[in-house]
Amino acid sequence: MNDSNSDTQQLLKSAVGQAAAARVASGSVIGLGTGSTAAFAIEHLGRRLRAGDLTDVRGVPTSFDAANLARRNGIPLTTMDDTPRIHVAIDGADEVDPHLALIKGGGAAHTQEKIIDAHADLFIVIVDDKKLVQRLGSTFAVPVELLPMAVVPVTRAIERLGGHPQLRMGAKKIGPLITDQGNMLLDVTFDAIDDPAHLERTLNNIPGVVENGLFVGLADLVLVGEIVDGETHVRELSRSTA
Ligand code: 5RP
Repeated sequence: MNDSNSDTQQLLKSAVGQAAAARVASGSVIGLGTGSTAAFAIEHLGRRLRAGDLTDVRGVPTSFDAANLARRNGIPLTTMDDTPRIHVAIDGADEVDPHLALIKGGGAAHTQEKIIDAHADLFIVIVDDKKLVQRLGSTFAVPVELLPMAVVPVTRAIERLGGHPQLRMGAKKIGPLITDQGNMLLDVTFDAIDDPAHLERTLNNIPGVVENGLFVGLADLVLVGEIVDGETHVRELSRSTA
């Protein structure tokens, strides 16, 4: 990606982050997503708090990274133990299909993300238009978090389903990536994902699997950043129109 493409990408991510943050009402408990797009939403929430435009909110972070970012932006944190009702969750995605089914987990945070996003009254997904696909799995593998002692049996079970699993490696660390939960992760490509809901259930049914990155029937609203006539524009896709 050249510099101007990546500047445009940043602009689109910031625009959708701001649009999502603008929808949060004072008094809300907010699920705070993980990733570069969700980070913009957290920053914009922080700005609203500092400006006094938003008060009395608490965030439930979906990862170690989201918690740190929230602290740096002055967002008070809570947990699902203390605050089980989440009014709104804001999170990114790696792919969004026409039914608003998602692949998530590019940042290996999909397990906590799914728990928090699924429990929110309103789950807002924020993406740029490059994340829109006709079919899940066309640009991105499905992340599958699993217990370290189950890597071999889960790999074999996924191969029997027709998937091609690859253990995700750590960055600046020799050996596999370790998730926030102390687990490992397989990135699984499939020749075609015909029924994402069925695949989501089938993968989670393999003993040793903790959670996979297919999010089917969870997104309520997707805010898509795109350039229209040279201007940044935020398009809304909702479950009722999908
Ligand atoms: C992390 C995620 C992210 O939300 C997803 O990978 C999108 O990230 P980005 O906004 O950086 O493209 O699911 O586990």
